[in-house]
Amino acid sequence: PKHPAQPLTAATYPLFLKTHAILSSAIELFVAGAAGGIGQPLSLLLKACPLITELALYDVVNTPGVAADLSHISSPAKITGYLPKDDGMKQAFKGAELVVIPAGIPRKPGMTRDDLFKINAGIVQGLVQGIAEICPKAFVLIISNPVNSTVPIAAEVLKRANVFDPTRLFGVTTLDVVRAETFVGEIVGSKNPSELVIPVVGGHSGETIVPLFSQAQPSVDIPADKLDALINRVQFGGDEVVKAKDGAGSATLSMAYAGFRFAEKVAKAVKGESGIIEPSYVYLPGIEGGEAIQKAVGVDFFSVPIELGPNGAKKAIDIVSKANDAEKKLLSVAVEGLKGNIEKGVEFVRNPP
Ligand code: NAD
Ligand code: LMR
Repeated sequence: PKHPAQPLTAATYPLFLKTHAILSSAIELFVAGAAGGIGQPLSLLLKACPLITELALYDVVNTPGVAADLSHISSPAKITGYLPKDDGMKQAFKGAELVVIPAGIPRKPGMTRDDLFKINAGIVQGLVQGIAEICPKAFVLIISNPVNSTVPIAAEVLKRANVFDPTRLFGVTTLDVVRAETFVGEIVGSKNPSELVIPVVGGHSGETIVPLFSQAQPSVDIPADKLDALINRVQFGGDEVVKAKDGAGSATLSMAYAGFRFAEKVAKAVKGESGIIEPSYVYLPGIEGGEAIQKAVGVDFFSVPIELGPNGAKKAIDIVSKANDAEKKLLSVAVEGLKGNIEKGVEFVRNPP
């Protein structure tokens, strides 16, 4: 059940208590990079979420302050903040059921996400090594860019530690889906674009991002003269924000919304809610239904709609084979780009530079 929308009165209060009693069997969560542009608003949304019982924040700076600030919010989650000193990472990871990683540097104008690889690859590798040692069964949600490569890095680190479970590792591509909903909503005049289901598949950078408007639900009618610009805007929405922020970073607030949306869906599915589907960048061969998609697209890591369940990714849903001819062309460009990004991530761990 959801939080009651009506004001608390004597009549609604018992329902409120009951809701809490049900939800408080919930989840312990850890955010790495918690003091950053994404980390802070994401932590705020997670602290406000009644599904979360414990929220541990970890960053190389500022987490005690962020945690103290958020701790005054009267939601159920018990919040703590850790720094690297005093074995902070270990303390923060202990008992985590779900880990969200928005740690690493963001883009400035003129940079590609791949330009972030040099610094962020090592950051993600270090954090995932910590997960492998301290909370190997946690669901891991990677936001740090370049996602196309950082997720393969995470998989490789977990494999080497013999704890890789592909159903528990997710690259967060929800912002692409959120953008697609918003931009389509503007064109079709939707009152609530978040109710549109617009699948976005592939990867998370430029032409590796492929919106499949032909598979939208309910179906949408995009005028032919608007289609190319719409595809381009979904693929390069990140650049729009990087340019507008003019050197002060990339999307943080919309990413916090998207990261929260995905984390909440995983948490709800883990706690038994069924029928939850959201695209995510995953290791296809390790997920039910994924092998056939992997054979069709020709890469191991790819974002497709994932049905979530108590153990994470329950099923990969094949909508790629239903793409129309124009979308198939976009898909083959995406796959070409992804091959190099994936290889670069895997090589970084197998043959360190
Ligand atoms: P930011 O610089 O504001 O914050 C990053 C935080 O990570 C900082 O607080 C920093 O101290 C911390 N950090 C660095 N090294 C760390 C480590 N080893 N352990 C823990 N924390 C560490 O950047 P941001 O705007 O929050 O963006 C973070 C990342 O998310 C970037 O790589 C960005 O490109 C990416 N991003 C991804 C998406 C997506 O859709 N997946 C969207 C937006 C941004
Ligand atoms: C985004 O899509 O907004 C993020 O990946 C950040 C970026 O670098 O564009």
